[in-house]
Amino acid sequence: MESIYCAPNPILFGVGSSKETGKKLKEFGCTKVILVYDMGIKKVGVVDKIDEIIKAEGIETVYYDNVQADPPIWSVEEAGALAVKEGCDGVVGIGGGSSLDTAKGTKLLITNPPPLRQYFGRVGVVTKPSVPLIVIPTTAGTGSECTPGGVITDTEKNIKTNIAGTGCTVTLGIVDPELTVGLPRFITAYTGFDALGHCAEAYTSRLANSICSCIAREGIQLIGKYLVRACNDGTDMEARAGMSLAASLGGMAMSGPYCHLPHDIGRSLGTKFHVPHGNGCCATLPQVLQMIAGVKTEEVKFIAGALGNPVPDGASVEEIGKYAYDAALKLMKDTGVPSLQDLKLNLDDLLREVPAEVVMQMDIFKKLGFGVCTCPLDITEKDVADVLTRAYYENHFPKE
Ligand SMILES: [Fe+2]
Repeated sequence: MESIYCAPNPILFGVGSSKETGKKLKEFGCTKVILVYDMGIKKVGVVDKIDEIIKAEGIETVYYDNVQADPPIWSVEEAGALAVKEGCDGVVGIGGGSSLDTAKGTKLLITNPPPLRQYFGRVGVVTKPSVPLIVIPTTAGTGSECTPGGVITDTEKNIKTNIAGTGCTVTLGIVDPELTVGLPRFITAYTGFDALGHCAEAYTSRLANSICSCIAREGIQLIGKYLVRACNDGTDMEARAGMSLAASLGGMAMSGPYCHLPHDIGRSLGTKFHVPHGNGCCATLPQVLQMIAGVKTEEVKFIAGALGNPVPDGASVEEIGKYAYDAALKLMKDTGVPSLQDLKLNLDDLLREVPAEVVMQMDIFKKLGFGVCTCPLDITEKDVADVLTRAYYENHFPKE
């Protein structure tokens, strides 16, 4: 049986599209909006640009500039309280996934009182509709502009969880590739790998569906064509636009199938070791593609080809797995995405924390009503430990 594909919110896509932000807010009837972002994105001038565009339409703005990586409950509640205190009737999230998720939580809390904790989970959560929300990604990775919920860190339990429901839906995503031009190479690399994970994992998920698979295949091809180009020349607008599109497609592709093992490991690396999301999620991708070639043969074969390493006719399952592994590994090397060793992580520490956490999270997912885990293979703690150990040594390219 296939999972359900849910069409996302409207998306305004294209170079220069962020200039429409003010007009769109006016169409939605907003008079005072809260901008949600972090200081990094403020420093590169993007926030001021959007702020001017909004004010030009006679709309007042207030600012929440304290977005945290892997947004913790306290930060989202802080932003929500500010929006309520200021009487905001609209929310604009600007930045990477953390800013967009914080903006979703801010919208939620405007009509749904805190604590935020009571809205966690995807099943059976009822929330009241809220004010309009525009999200404007400045990275090409998270796809958060196309996903129905937001990822929040439960700091008490030290796990990542989700907010969901009508209270936090995106009213409009504005994807302007021009905003990604100033991204440093390493952020371009790991956010691009995040998008690849969304597409490749949704495509090979146990809950894959035909519609999401079409979307995922296009996303993987775009990433194969453009990720290295975007890393090598940040001003290459064709590559930037290709990657922005791939990221949005990734958000759509995982709406139903979800992601699997590489993202499960990535989430654990994020909460326990503060590894940036995209960086953690690609850390084991080559090994996992190789591992699942026996059960997702055609899909893995497609991924190898789309990433520039086409599989010859008559190749065995083992060879197909190796082609995909080589393709993903080469992409890591060519983009210069930081390895687990580059991040100064200790393998023993990882093995102590990550395998148990990943298997526990898979069990929670099963109990939430899905009945199965999304990984196409049943996974034990030993499997996670093996994959992680291989990735630690194999996916590392000492600088020459
Ligand atoms: Fe992700």
